Amino acid sequence: MTKIFITRLIPSSGLNLIKEHFQPDVWSHDLPPTRVQLLESVRGVDGLLCLLTEKVDAELMDAAGSQLKVISSMSVGVDHIDVSAATERRIPVGNTPGVLTDATADQAFALMLSAARRIPEAERYVRAGKWITWSPSLLLGADLAGATLGIVGFGRIGQAIAKRAQGFELRVVYYSPNAKPVFGAQPVDLNTLLKESDFVSINVPLKDETRHLVNENFLSKMKPTAILINTARGGVLDQNALYNALKSKQISYAALDVTDPEPLPMNSPLLELENCIIVPHLGSASKKTRDQMSVLAAQNLIAGLNGDILPNCVNSDVY
Ligand code: DGY
Repeated sequence: MTKIFITRLIPSSGLNLIKEHFQPDVWSHDLPPTRVQLLESVRGVDGLLCLLTEKVDAELMDAAGSQLKVISSMSVGVDHIDVSAATERRIPVGNTPGVLTDATADQAFALMLSAARRIPEAERYVRAGKWITWSPSLLLGADLAGATLGIVGFGRIGQAIAKRAQGFELRVVYYSPNAKPVFGAQPVDLNTLLKESDFVSINVPLKDETRHLVNENFLSKMKPTAILINTARGGVLDQNALYNALKSKQISYAALDVTDPEPLPMNSPLLELENCIIVPHLGSASKKTRDQMSVLAAQNLIAGLNGDILPNCVNSDVY
């Protein structure tokens, strides 16, 4: 019998598709399996459906065994998977691109507006009983119209942010070698982007070359009034450098959908800052998007188990 391990309860749209063909073993606890539980649960499986919370490395693949035919992640990012190790073992790795583009771009905009207009601060202000009167100088923020948005990484999500920016009358520049200009966005080098942008949105995948791309040097080139938005991966940003830049007002504000590690420990100094918004990795967190992600992940899993080419494969050189 084909053995499948699914590392968490995924939306029924995807799960039911899998159940039409197979009887998967589903980790149905709220918390992900620990490393030990994961290594134990994958033993002998033909297919693994994981989330971004699982580290899928060579050790895990070997613990599963040489019969492992497919690794399908319910995520577009695959930085939690050692794709080279999978390729060496000729295991196709599937991901879920496209379906979360709009939701993640919406989230980047939600964070941009929240930071610009200081919404979480304002909400805390009201709940603390500090709202005594309307005041000409109360909680003043930044305008979007007429400002410049710099997008670092102009892939699907970066472009969807640029599309939304047109409606907000933002000028958009981007840094992304080889990406074509769309939605009125203008390609520039990174230094120009950092010098000119009032908002900087990070939209690159986490890879060796992008780890800590946002470091002290990067932040030092931004405007003191600039707002940084990260909906990519926490590891793209050096959080100590960000803390120093926010604390010293070298930049004005940051809004993070992602951190390193996740969850962010409660003793992180970033949590002490008024000018830093942090939400728990919710870029793709709309019902429709998560349903669609589960379907793509299921389709990849089923294709891999049937020996077919994965509809969305990140290491097609296995074929
Ligand atoms: C992904 O799929 O990589 C996203 O980060 C999930 O929100």
